[in-house]
Amino acid sequence: MVRGARQNNLKNVDLDVPRDAIVVFIWVSGSGKSSLAFGTLFAESQRRYLESVAPYARRLIHQAGVPDVDEIEGMPPAVALQQQRGGGNARSSVASLTTLGSLVRMLYSRAGSYPPGQPMLYAEDFSPNTV
Ligand SMILES: Nc1ncnc2c1ncn2[C@@H]1O[C@H](COP(=O)(O)OP(=O)(O)OP(=O)(O)O)[C@@H](O)[C@H]1O
Ligand SMILES: [Mg+2]
Repeated sequence: MVRGARQNNLKNVDLDVPRDAIVVFIWVSGSGKSSLAFGTLFAESQRRYLESVAPYARRLIHQAGVPDVDEIEGMPPAVALQQQRGGGNARSSVASLTTLGSLVRMLYSRAGSYPPGQPMLYAEDFSPNTV
């Protein structure tokens, strides 16, 4: 239960988040999803958890800070996995970025079959030295 969340651009947001369920925040970029999920919910959960940790150990943890919020109740200790842009380059594809391409390659090598009449092709047939 969150009351009066004002982190970054949030305007006194009140919401009840169910426990033991997958909850998704969706809206346009810059609307405050991360401010709510990471900046408010996670920050407060981490802050409470860190109070039980020795000050020495506390300094080793990146602290999310104190959220601007009136009240938060019922939060379990939380773990946050942040979104991150992967290191794509000009030759990246959906398959390579998601690493699904490697799995598809593996699948074809194990479960694939040659079209009817197609002679067996060996690795050297794909060499630039082979016409
Ligand atoms: N650390 C910060 N300090 C000040 N303002 C911030 C900070 N982080 C985000 N903001 C601002 O708060 C607003 C909401 O940002 P937020 O990152 O929560 O949006 P979002 O919905 O998660 O966007 P996206 O979909 O791009 O991740 C934006 O106007 C942003 O510029
Ligand atoms: Mg975000």
